[in-house]
Amino acid sequence: MKDSHGRTIDYLRISLTDRCNLRCIYCMPEDGVCSMSHEEILTLEEIEAIVRVAAELGFKHIRLTGGEPLVRKGVVDCVREIVNTPGIERVAMTTNGTLLPRMAKDLKEAGLSRVNISLDTLDPDQFRFITRRGELADTLVGIDAALEAGLNPVKVNAVVVRSLNQDLLAFAKLSLDRPLHVRFIEYMPVGESSGVDGCGWGPDDVIDSDDVVRIVSEQAEAEGLGPLIPQNEQAAEGWGPARYFAFEGAQGTVGVISPMSRHFCSECNRLRLTADGKLRPCLFSDLEYDVRTPVRAGDMEGVKAAIFEALGHKPEDHFDIVGTDRKMSQIGG
Ligand code: GTP
Ligand code: 5AD
Ligand code: SF4
Repeated sequence: MKDSHGRTIDYLRISLTDRCNLRCIYCMPEDGVCSMSHEEILTLEEIEAIVRVAAELGFKHIRLTGGEPLVRKGVVDCVREIVNTPGIERVAMTTNGTLLPRMAKDLKEAGLSRVNISLDTLDPDQFRFITRRGELADTLVGIDAALEAGLNPVKVNAVVVRSLNQDLLAFAKLSLDRPLHVRFIEYMPVGESSGVDGCGWGPDDVIDSDDVVRIVSEQAEAEGLGPLIPQNEQAAEGWGPARYFAFEGAQGTVGVISPMSRHFCSECNRLRLTADGKLRPCLFSDLEYDVRTPVRAGDMEGVKAAIFEALGHKPEDHFDIVGTDRKMSQIGG
């Protein structure tokens, strides 16, 4: 399926819930978002029905996001159902990892291919500060569980924020002895963190990915590890815009995602579905197309029409807009 700018769109990111068991300061207010009501949220059956229509139209890749997708009741069965949908090739998930110790095996058995685990610091105190209530050990054990369950590849998403002064080399070294793919993401100052609940991060907190690669390489060379070496696209299976590097002899890779310094919109391949049943043509556009009304009415032609509408309104680029009316936790990144 092509959009009006000639891009092939075959990747659907589905937010299963806006709830989360953590409260990352750049993503949610302290007391949680004003959560969507039960009636507003798509049922898992409705989500599965939308996936069937999307697959008929050519969508091949599904990523389940949140909030935290693993707090949604029935998520394992939902994965199984989506995996078994004709036309769907792979199902992945982006998660904070804390519930993987008890769920990774079942998710793998249900057919989940891979997970991206959000982890922004390796310092336990800083982890508590960022997540407001989490324990670093829980996410680290979640990473172990994902690897043990055979989910592959397992990626770690670290948003780089200048004022956090993260130990980037320590992150990169996670790729040495295990097949872990650590990805440094440029912080997007979406503006949702300002105000009383905000963390106060802004445009000055963005560090260019090229600088991240240079800093990590320099620090690694000072330790005798050698520089990061560019890898080809096959370095780690993915549908997103990450670029990959690796230390010589490492089992995993170090990637960068550069939404600020290089717009990757010309290669955009995705639509987003929010938990309350809105199709979003672009992360940074508040245009949304209602798919809940038709799916609830059993009107699959209406579902199809909503998908076409959303596709037809994908912008060419987000240009200088970095922000949305919705919280990141309601869109799923
Ligand atoms: P892979 O398929 O494993 O490469 O994953 P992905 O990068 O598609 O998904 P993930 O959920 O891990 O997202 C990683 C980061 O990429 C998110 O934090 C966002 O910062 C960024 N990102 C993902 N999609 C978009 C997009 O459409 N536009 C922009 N500007 N950033 C995006
Ligand atoms: N900038 C960059 N990445 C972000 N994420 C959430 N908010 C932002 C932001 N403002 C990341 C999460 C998760 C992914 C889906 O999006 O850390 O890994
Ligand atoms: Fe696609 Fe919008 Fe993301 Fe650009 S910002 S890659 S157009 S979703």
